[in-house]
Amino acid sequence: MTPIDNCKLIDLPKIGEPRGNLTFVEGGRHVPFEIKRVYYLYDVPGGAERGGHAHKGLHQLIVAMSGSFDIVLDDGQSKKRFHLARSYFGLYVCPMIWREMDNFSSGAVCLVLASNLYDESDYYRDYDEFKRDLK
Ligand code: TYD
Repeated sequence: MTPIDNCKLIDLPKIGEPRGNLTFVEGGRHVPFEIKRVYYLYDVPGGAERGGHAHKGLHQLIVAMSGSFDIVLDDGQSKKRFHLARSYFGLYVCPMIWREMDNFSSGAVCLVLASNLYDESDYYRDYDEFKRDLK
């Protein structure tokens, strides 16, 4: 078991109707944290890469609200690639996980539910520094 094993795809509730589907997320119930901030990535140009950082204390749930993209998680020991393409799946990312995001489809929208407000001092933007602090 390495830290990356705490990061999982969460199957979110889905109310399916002929009129369309509805999915909801409740902090502390469907995700193991209270939700303090929501942000989203959109209009990502083809071939662009996002991420390239880790968080010291932030917990996140990442959802492909529309379209698809890939997320590679790395805990310094192992790496896992996830393909997100459904709005009823969320990828839970715990603290101290380096992530890279690529392979965005056109029109992709990436929703992120986060456990805290934006704080640049919570980021590792240097991979070597991240690796150093893991030890
Ligand atoms: P970053 O977290 O690096 O984005 P990504 O992981 O998608 O590549 O953030 C990109 C820029 O946006 C960076 O300059 C910080 C800023 N930002 C905010 O000002 N507030 C926020 O809530 C977030 C997530 C980012």
